Formats: sequence, C-alpha cells, structure tokens
Amino acid sequence: MSYYLVRGGQALRGEVPISGAKNSVLPILAATLLNGGRSLLHNCPDLRDVRSAIQILQHLGCKVSREGDTILVDSSVVDRWDVPHELMREMRSSVIFLGPILARCGRARLSLPGGCEIGQRPIDLHLSSLRKLGVSIREQGGDILCEARDLRGGDIILSFPSVGATENTILTATACPGVTRLINAAREPEIADLQAFLRKTGVLVQGGGESVITVSGESPRNDVEHTILPDRIETATYLCAAAACGGEVTVTGAEPEHVGTVLQCLTEAGCRVRCAGRTITLQAPRALGGMSPVRTMPYPGFPTDAQAPLMAAACTGQGTSLFIETIFENRFRHAAELARMGADIRVNGRTALVTGRPLHGARVRSTDLRGGAALVVAGLAAEGESIVEGITHIDRGYERLAEKLTALGADIRRVEA
Ligand code: EPZ
Repeated sequence: MSYYLVRGGQALRGEVPISGAKNSVLPILAATLLNGGRSLLHNCPDLRDVRSAIQILQHLGCKVSREGDTILVDSSVVDRWDVPHELMREMRSSVIFLGPILARCGRARLSLPGGCEIGQRPIDLHLSSLRKLGVSIREQGGDILCEARDLRGGDIILSFPSVGATENTILTATACPGVTRLINAAREPEIADLQAFLRKTGVLVQGGGESVITVSGESPRNDVEHTILPDRIETATYLCAAAACGGEVTVTGAEPEHVGTVLQCLTEAGCRVRCAGRTITLQAPRALGGMSPVRTMPYPGFPTDAQAPLMAAACTGQGTSLFIETIFENRFRHAAELARMGADIRVNGRTALVTGRPLHGARVRSTDLRGGAALVVAGLAAEGESIVEGITHIDRGYERLAEKLTALGADIRRVEA
C-alpha cells in the first residue's frame, strides 16, 4: 500500500505548472468515438482515470497511443459496444461513454456505475434524457442495455445541472436527427471544452458554458486536433497548499477565470492574489483568517471539488469558517482524518464549522480523490511528520503531485510499500 511521507512546516515558494483537466479529457476521450477518424489531444494529464479511459477505447476497437502529454485516438474501427464491468468499477465516470457508444453503434451495454466515497451518484438524469431522445433502456442484472431505436432531437430540461448528464445528452444528441435543446445544462468550463472539440469534428453545437445548449444531429466526420483546458481543481489545490503553508507560489498555465470563487475565499482569508494572463501568484499571510460561509454550487458557484483542499487550509489558520456542501451528500469524510491531525471541525449533515488551530502530523488515510489532496495540504502545514495512506485515490486526479510539491520546497515523498 503506497503512501506519502510528509514533513510539514516548510513554506512553499516558486512556480508550479498546471496540467490538463481530468474532467475535460475524460469526456473528450469518450467523444473521440464519434468522428470515426483521428483525434490528436494535447495537454492530457497522465492519471489513473485517463489510463482507464484509454483502456475502454482500446476495448471498443480504437487504436490509442500516447507521446508525452499528447494522446492520438483512431476510432475508424469500433467493433464493440460494451464497457467491461471491471473498468466501470475502476472508474465510475466511465458512464460518460454511454452517449458516444450509443451515437456510434446504436446500442450500448454498461454496468450501473454505482455509488462511491462521496455519494450515491445516481444516473437517473442521464437515463431520462436519453429516453427523451428515443433511446430504449432496460436494466438487467446490474447492467443497462440501451438501444437507439428511433432517435430524434427535441427539448430536454434537466432538473439539476448535472455535469455528466449534460455531457451524455450532448454526445447522444449528435446522432439524433433534428435539433436538441438542453435546458438547465451544466455550465462548467469542461462543457465548453467538450463543445470546442465537437465543433472541430463538424458537429453543430452551441451554448456550451451557458444554461441552454443546442445540438444539431450531424454525423461528425473531421479528424480533430485539440488542446485540453487547464485543470481548475488542481489549480485550486496548489493555491490552497500555498495558503496553508505560507510563502509565495505562482501557478502557470492556469485559467484564473475558472477559479474566481476560490480566489475570492483565499483573498478574504488574508492572501494576496495577483493574476496575469495564464498565471496566478498567491502570497500567503502569516496566518490564514476566517472566510464567509463557503457554499458549494454548480459552476460558476464555488466548486465542490475544491471544498476539501480549502477546508484543509482553513483548519491550519486562526479564523472560523463555515462550509456548506450542497452538491454531494457525503463529502466531508476527510474531516475525521483531518481531526486526527488536531483539526477542529464540527460536521452537522451538510455543514462543517472549522475553527483554525495549529495541526500536528499523524497517520491518515485518503477517503476519496479530493479528500486525499486535503490531507496532503494539511500535512504540509502541520508540525511534524504525517503518513497519508490510500494515495491511489489521489493518483486518479493529480499528476506528479509529490514532484510538483517538492519543486516548491515541500518535504514530501512517495513510498511504495
Ligand atoms: C462531475 O461529476 C465531476 N466528475 C466531479 O468531479 C464533480 O464533483 C461533479 O461533476 C460536480 O461538479 C467528472 O467530470 C468526471 P454531477 P458528475 O452529475 O458528472 C446528482 C472529481 O473529484 N445527480 O454534476 O458525476 C449527483 O448525485 C469529481 O474530479 C443525480 O441525482 O456530477 C450529485 O449530487 C468528483 N442524478 C449532483 O447531481 C444524475 O443522473 C452533481 O452530480 C446525475 C447526478
């Protein structure tokens, strides 16, 4: 069981490059099924989840190769329409392959993705959208079997701006004759990135990043070259680490506009933040103050994925902050692990009240991807040594974490046990 050995107390200084966004490269890799040709994707992070998505594409018949941060997908041949059970278990967000497989093959078979550490993660919004587009869906022994019998475009209203349901609906709609209008769509930047990719294949889609997205059912045909947008949650994580440890850090290759709510919280807590083009420089105060209530919301509200790293930073300060998690029902599991480091966090349902105080090192275990990153942030700021176990969670979403932190002066190393 590999773990991170972290010795806290070092201020962080220097520059850290931001990688491509996990939550953009995954739906775009799925979308490469659509054009039946070549897709050249740049700025792809090397993550466990990306490797899982590549395995799925290869299982379906695609040729996939990687050179550095560039992935080449050739989807000329797609001769399967199922996602293997073990790959669905490995990565629940594989459900994003449902729409593209349906659009390409006319049918799809996936095992139900099931819940995960942060919540039930139902896919009812995905399935109700697809049914409205003319997809017949039946469940059989934990699998969903989908047939695109009489696909047709139409108006679809999402009861919640689900990111995955928005992506699956757009991708399925590319195969539906007529026009599909998706209302109350997710507005996350990753949706706009997916739209930019699809437009290069020849699909007429517009409104990505807004609440109403329109797709004209066109058969995608062009080969594509696309650069994945920077990871806003990785950006937030490194800024929270700098805020917690003290010092001055510049993230490069970032998109400041995508982390506006996080920058606002860190500024309120006493950090000096300067944005210039694709860089963000954060100068930490001697001790972080409190923040106004941090309420997670769909984009452009505060991102739920940045809640745990920001909570870790708040734990190390001197102020009091209230976190309200409105997106997932079980996303405070990192609080108990942070408490082992001396953090004062009072969890009550979907709220967590944090009173900052000095932390001490401890042996802790990652609960999920972002909760694991929060434990690393806390360990970097704590007095003494911490062991962070369960880091395969963290490998899913952070490329070269220990290497990037070490370059900032952190004392952290990965131990393969
Ligand atoms: C995406 O998950 C991200 N994952 C998540 O990032 C992120 O936390 C989430 O969006 C919210 O921003 C990827 O993009 C791969 P949702 P997704 O559908 O699409 C409920 C990370 O750490 N819901 O917007 O699964 C759901 O239960 C990961 O990088 C339904 O009820 O999120 C949740 O409460 C974690 N029915 C809420 O909506 C559905 O059919 C938001 O889910 C779908 C969702």
